[in-house]
Amino acid sequence: MSEHAVTEQQVLDALRAVIDPDLRRDIVSLGFVKDVKICDGNVAFKIELTTPACPVKDLMKSQAIQAVQQIPGVKSVNVEMTASVRSRQVGVEDLLPNVRHVIAVASGKGGVGKSTVSVNLAVALAQTGAKVGLLDADVYGPSVPLLMGTRETPHVVNDKIIPVERYGVQMMSLGFLLPDDQAVIWRGPMVAGTVRQLLTDVEWGEKDYLIVDLPPGTGDAPMTLSQSVPITGVVIVMTPQDVAFTIAAKSVAMFRKLEEGLGRPIPILGIIENMALFACPHCGEVTRIFSGGGGEQAAERLGVPLLGSIPLDPTISLSGDEGVPAIIAHPESAQAQAFRQIAQALAAQCSIHSMADHTLLRNIPLIWRS
Ligand SMILES: Nc1ncnc2c1ncn2[C@@H]1O[C@H](COP(=O)(O)OP(=O)(O)OP(=O)(O)O)[C@@H](O)[C@H]1O
Ligand SMILES: [Mg+2]
Repeated sequence: MSEHAVTEQQVLDALRAVIDPDLRRDIVSLGFVKDVKICDGNVAFKIELTTPACPVKDLMKSQAIQAVQQIPGVKSVNVEMTASVRSRQVGVEDLLPNVRHVIAVASGKGGVGKSTVSVNLAVALAQTGAKVGLLDADVYGPSVPLLMGTRETPHVVNDKIIPVERYGVQMMSLGFLLPDDQAVIWRGPMVAGTVRQLLTDVEWGEKDYLIVDLPPGTGDAPMTLSQSVPITGVVIVMTPQDVAFTIAAKSVAMFRKLEEGLGRPIPILGIIENMALFACPHCGEVTRIFSGGGGEQAAERLGVPLLGSIPLDPTISLSGDEGVPAIIAHPESAQAQAFRQIAQALAAQCSIHSMADHTLLRNIPLIWRS
């Protein structure tokens, strides 16, 4: 061994300087550094993040290279960035043990853009390389087939329904199973039964993220979903008018109540403010349309993160009608950028919640009070 033989310990010590900005801990104690190989001063290792949707992947990589280069005797540093999505807590009764994160998209009232947000976030996450499923749990008005531009009838293999795939997302909706003009008169237990079937009778397979588009309001679907699988958390979509706060608060309150009944946490992963700003299609100028504090203030009052704001844009609506999500139809637009940024923030929240010790989290006082 030469005088400057580099050791694995030295490499790990140096890498403790690299901090994951979401988890606020160094990548060594988080267990992200894998396969350290040292050969004659040439160092190679992997950094395995908790999501492929990490916006600061490149920054962390260059920080790691810099840190290791400072060790005397190091000639070259080779870092491979990978991702392995860590699972939510898998519970006793879990109908989807191979799905790492189940994310419910909810709102207190209809028409705020839940379905639009759900499809665009699902596609944005899939574009990062994650395995993504999309479950349309809005049995009253399934809109995923329309928004994703397909009415394909799903195949059944070994008594399981195979999800329909589009834009890299595997999805299931009652809309694929019912004829166009069929009206269903729903009774409470039927909703529960149907949502449960959409979880159990569908071959969801292995997924990093399953986005669940819930019907509006506080009904049976969120209850069945959270009883059937320990969901990673809920995202609340709201519009920025003053009244919207009360509605978002109602939604949060419902999940808090469900959580009490279940005896396990249903974290609110954050708020998404939709139709907040107007980007003029002619000059590009961005204006805030409604008065009131909007999403930022709501998030603060509810004590949850604001994941991001999506501008009001007529092309979102048009792309929806044409069955091409805005993120595919106009990938460079402000709304597509907003969806990508929100997808990253959401993935970060999933990582934070799966890494955190739930008992510790429980001890953090809730800022929100009714
Ligand atoms: N940011 C936006 N800019 C412009 N139009 C939007 C935006 N977000 C949603 N829309 C439009 O608003 C309407 C309602 O959206 P969407 O169907 O996604 O809402 P929802 O909350 O799922 O409704 P529901 O409660 O009926 O399920 C749609 O026509 C959609 O295209
Ligand atoms: Mg909807």
